[in-house]
Amino acid sequence: MTEISGETRFLHAVEMGLGVWQWGDRLVWQYGHGYGEEEARKAFQVSLTEGIRFVDTAEVYGSGLSERMLGKFIKETDQPILVATKYFPFPWRFTRGSLMRALKNSLERIGIESVDLYQIHWPSVTMSTDLLMDGLAEGVKSGLTRTVGVSNFGQTRMLAAYSALARHNIPLASNQVHYSLLSRGAEEKGILRRCKELGIRMIAYSPLEQGLLTGKYSVGSPPSGTRGGHYARMLPKIQPLIKLMTEIGQDHGGKTNSQVALNWIICKGALPIPGAKNEAQAQQNSGALGWKLTDDEVAKLDEVSNMVMK
Ligand SMILES: NC(=O)c1ccc[n+]([C@@H]2O[C@H](COP(=O)([O-])OP(=O)(O)OC[C@H]3O[C@@H](n4cnc5c(N)ncnc54)[C@H](OP(=O)(O)O)[C@@H]3O)[C@@H](O)[C@H]2O)c1
Repeated sequence: MTEISGETRFLHAVEMGLGVWQWGDRLVWQYGHGYGEEEARKAFQVSLTEGIRFVDTAEVYGSGLSERMLGKFIKETDQPILVATKYFPFPWRFTRGSLMRALKNSLERIGIESVDLYQIHWPSVTMSTDLLMDGLAEGVKSGLTRTVGVSNFGQTRMLAAYSALARHNIPLASNQVHYSLLSRGAEEKGILRRCKELGIRMIAYSPLEQGLLTGKYSVGSPPSGTRGGHYARMLPKIQPLIKLMTEIGQDHGGKTNSQVALNWIICKGALPIPGAKNEAQAQQNSGALGWKLTDDEVAKLDEVSNMVMK
């Protein structure tokens, strides 16, 4: 595995990325209301200016629009971009060939010859982990993806994926899971620890808990759309955590809540990929880089996040 792994450990050098589910998604993010392609372009451009090079999309985001927009924006820059996308395991996809077809379609939408990371978006109900990993291995061997990963895999399934890929002499590069100060399952269930042991990069999605950790939402002012219902029970409990984040941010020269939330994830050894709808959000999130919370601050945030999630 050594020859391949040197080339494929690049994710461990990436501190933070940009998530682009927002680009084209109307159901959760209400694309077209208050932001559109121009705002997405500026979010992308400011992220590049701030040194963020890793972009996470998926074939299902905006039914392919997210990948298409990313492709368009990539062509407008001469900066190198690290592209991650995902295979969605629709139940009608049950052969190894379906994975290669989906990968080729993603590459066509993005307009590039290979991606840096190809991930299985969710475990499949119709394809075994072995079969999925055979498909990913074919992607690597054919040169269409540099590395491969999984997403939303629990520890048992992740270990099965790791072993199945090892039989092809290919490392499992990443597991992308929900992880934030308000969603600590990956830590509690030992996934983060096991990822570190095995050299698998844990990528943290919804690192701002879909906007809740910015502190801008409250019971009286909930997020719009499906998020309102989804977070109705959590919103009344989070104020002590928001207050602590604000205090800690002030002690670091006025860091915002989102910067504290993202920095906490970096301190835990995971790679956050915050989504941003516009330039201002992306600019602010990039300010999570270049400084570090102290161990005491991380411990205090752990304590209060545990308390509010009880
Ligand atoms: N693998 C998976 O199953 C999976 C699942 C979910 C997400 N993801 C990936 O992870 C990425 C990030 O997760 P996410 O998009 O669910 O949630 P998130 O990053 O926790 O939250 C993003 C949202 O928070 C708000 N926001 C972001 N930065 C802000 C700032 N500085 N100030 C104020 N508001 C801000 C924006 O929405 P509002 O302005 O509307 O509040 C933005 O759309 C996605 O884009 C996607 O690439 C993967």
